[in-house]
Amino acid sequence: MKKVEFYKILMQNILHHADIGIHVIDKERKTVIYNDVMARLEGLKREQVLGKDILDIFPSLNEETSTMIKVLHTGESILNRTQTYLNFKGQRITTINSTIPLYNEDEIIGAMELSNNITHIKNLSDQLIELQSELKFKKSPSKNSKSQIKRYNFHDIIGISEPIEMAKEVAKKACNSNSSVFIYGDTGTGKELFAQSIHYGGIRANGPFIAQNCAAIPETLLEGILFGTDKGGFTGALEREGIFEQANGGTLMLDEINSMSLPLQAKLLRVLQEGYIRRIGGTKDIPIDVRIIATTNESPLESLKKGSLRKDLFYRLNVIFIHIPPLVERSEDIPILTDYFISKFNLLLDKKVESVSKDVLDYFMEYTWPGNVRELANVIEGAMNIVDDNETLLTRRDFISSIHLMKDKSYRYPFVFGQRNKSLPVYLEEIEKNLIINALENNHNNITKAAEELGIKRQTLQHKLKKFRI
Ligand SMILES: Nc1ncnc2c1ncn2[C@@H]1O[C@H](COP(=O)(O)OP(=O)(O)OP(=O)(O)O)[C@@H](O)[C@H]1O
Ligand SMILES: [Mg+2]
Repeated sequence: MKKVEFYKILMQNILHHADIGIHVIDKERKTVIYNDVMARLEGLKREQVLGKDILDIFPSLNEETSTMIKVLHTGESILNRTQTYLNFKGQRITTINSTIPLYNEDEIIGAMELSNNITHIKNLSDQLIELQSELKFKKSPSKNSKSQIKRYNFHDIIGISEPIEMAKEVAKKACNSNSSVFIYGDTGTGKELFAQSIHYGGIRANGPFIAQNCAAIPETLLEGILFGTDKGGFTGALEREGIFEQANGGTLMLDEINSMSLPLQAKLLRVLQEGYIRRIGGTKDIPIDVRIIATTNESPLESLKKGSLRKDLFYRLNVIFIHIPPLVERSEDIPILTDYFISKFNLLLDKKVESVSKDVLDYFMEYTWPGNVRELANVIEGAMNIVDDNETLLTRRDFISSIHLMKDKSYRYPFVFGQRNKSLPVYLEEIEKNLIINALENNHNNITKAAEELGIKRQTLQHKLKKFRI
């Protein structure tokens, strides 16, 4: 096969299989490439577009507003621009587009548009904003909605270790001020618990508390969520207040602040210093009075070193610093937390458990708890579901059967007890058995898939199932 032929086939495959919309025009503005994904996005057929002048296909565009034509003229890329529009089938679509000029040496020979469909994410973020603004106006929630809103207070923070006592003390002092708070703690250590306790225990308790995760939402949307949008901010944008406005008079928790892009961090800093925001596409300065609680699960020193957190922003936010160490570093909290979750689930599940058996508690004291307090709560909840209604002790058995709760890859560690009393082969066998049970549960007892996950042959797995009598 000739090389050219090979590249042609390769090219067609890439175009056909990529999950991104691709549209290429030549310098006469005629479409030369238009893949299926783009056709679906825009609600057109490929035949309607190929070979035609772009302005004939999209009559609502002109030389000024078409990004492709603009790029042909300027020779400069337009990157990561969010667009919301009605496509030819009348569907409301949101995409992130990049338009890139194509050069042959110094001469522009065309332009390419790459389009990423984020409609479902946009819809989710819209719902989020609406829910949050509903919550804002429900200051004293009805009985029904109350169960859905977590409202934590200091008495919900359980722990007797020195670091927890200290963190609580600092947090209580933070209640009486409006200064920014920076909370650093691993996942599941109780950052939100502390943030809410500070809000609801403080002078802003009657104002709204809003939490926003900065890592879960694409950059281009996050800015709109924070600061709001005015009509015309970008194509099809609605007029809407951002969560800074929604949290006015209250507290805004910015979760995983180190995941925010550096330019957005700079904007945030400006807002905090100047005390007003401007919606995207807007012209009005809106004064805001919001207390910020920022959190990260990475040491801020590390983030500063890596450059994922701006120094100036960190100093602005780090007026009050709270560090919550991982559970493994404060194992003296484990027994009291265990009792606390047992009482909690006794109430919820109508059980009569009084404690865990000694070997379970020993194991708890030695286990590393990568998911911290959240993981401990989940493990106990699992066992409380298993234990008989009249049983007063949670034993090893109740926990072994709740292994499925630890599905997350980082948790997938065999729950093996009393390991030090066993010979190495017996211990290894037990680990192997647990891994197999895990894989089977993960794959709904499908042996082929479980074998795949374990990286062994189906026959080998069948042999082991027999051997271990699983
Ligand atoms: N000291 C504690 N006492 C009682 N419950 C706790 C404690 N710490 C954490 N929890 C519970 O553990 C769960 C996780 O806490 P939270 O959501 O505050 O963690 P987080 O640090 O925000 O985690 P992530 O980084 O994953 O968002 C919650 O159900 C919370 O009530
Ligand atoms: Mg959290």
